[in-house]
Amino acid sequence: MTFDPAKIRAQFPIFEVPATGGAALHYLDSAATAQVPDVVLDAVRTHDATARGNIKRGVHFLAERATEAYEGAREKVADFLNASPSEVIFTSGTTAAINLVAHSFGQSLEAGDEVVVSELEHHSNMVPWQMLRDRSGIVLKYLPVTADGRLDLEALESTVTDKCKLIAVTHVSNVTGAVTNVSAIVAAAKAVGARVLLDGAQRASHGPVDVAALGVDFYAMSSHKMFGPSGVGVLWGRAELLADMPPFMGGGEMIRSVTKDVTTFADPPARFEAGTPPITQVVGMGAAIDWIGTLDQEAVTSHLNRLTERVLNGIADLGGGNGRIKVVGPQGLQERYPVISFDINGAHPHDICQILDGHGVALRGGHHCAQVFMDAMDLAGTSRASLGPYSDDSDIDALFAGLEDAIERLT
Ligand code: ALA
Repeated sequence: MTFDPAKIRAQFPIFEVPATGGAALHYLDSAATAQVPDVVLDAVRTHDATARGNIKRGVHFLAERATEAYEGAREKVADFLNASPSEVIFTSGTTAAINLVAHSFGQSLEAGDEVVVSELEHHSNMVPWQMLRDRSGIVLKYLPVTADGRLDLEALESTVTDKCKLIAVTHVSNVTGAVTNVSAIVAAAKAVGARVLLDGAQRASHGPVDVAALGVDFYAMSSHKMFGPSGVGVLWGRAELLADMPPFMGGGEMIRSVTKDVTTFADPPARFEAGTPPITQVVGMGAAIDWIGTLDQEAVTSHLNRLTERVLNGIADLGGGNGRIKVVGPQGLQERYPVISFDINGAHPHDICQILDGHGVALRGGHHCAQVFMDAMDLAGTSRASLGPYSDDSDIDALFAGLEDAIERLT
């Protein structure tokens, strides 16, 4: 397998779509939503054109085909995570996966028990725990962040006490791209008998994740950041934990039996998949995982590292290197993914993104659903460029042409 970014880009029809004003599209917002290759679009269409039916509910051939496709995708996810299919729960995304844990695992927690998150978390891994705190009286603690946008591991010892029942942190930051030192988190949790949940939303597009080797207990991820359809994601949980967890939502297919007075529940994963799931999207997610499997990840990583280095160096040089423009997060390539946030002192990220949009460059600007981190950094927001395997040098050239323009107009 040799890596050629042009060949990758050619598989993504979105790049034929003209951007604002007819400019060529330079998509640098893969951390929000990755684009979808033809094979995934085809898989979704083929499924609905040849195998559309509801799963498990029918004995006709389309119901059987749909069930096979759905369960086949579950096996692909399980392989991707080095886990068992019965530990894979389809949800509507990472947010729903974390809410499921906060609700169902959360029912085993008592007032005074502690849950530790970090100041770097996306709101989806913070608000559900605040809601649990307000419902049940648990204590929510925050691991602080370092000046370069990583978890401050030195604070683990003072933050994680023997009352801690769960540490829930991001695997890769959606703002800074920093990779979490998972073994330090797992060691701190194990020392007090706590569980670990990783928010894998920003990690999962970069190839298989070995949850067994990581030693975590829950892992959440979203298809739309993995070159698959939106509206579907996964919660992986250790079998023995899932077995003890009550359901999150009630409805069809999650029961063993129902009478007027009593309902008994199915085993996982069905217990956690009430109602008709997003079948077509799950099939698309399976196809996206197959597509990720076709990539030479080592080659993709070195390509993305080279582009990331261009962005990091280019930002340092912008505005004549006057220090008003800075990267928020790790300044180098160590332990980071290609998600690069920056601040241009005196210019609002929304204005920057709007000017960049006029250059055909899609960025994200604002607090990135991480207001607590922005407060910790004393920033209202950042502008963020995030890359995918289809990103190339023309995208970085366009980014810097747009940024020169923005700086001239805004500062
Ligand atoms: N969580 C997504 C992001 O960070 C939407 O952009």
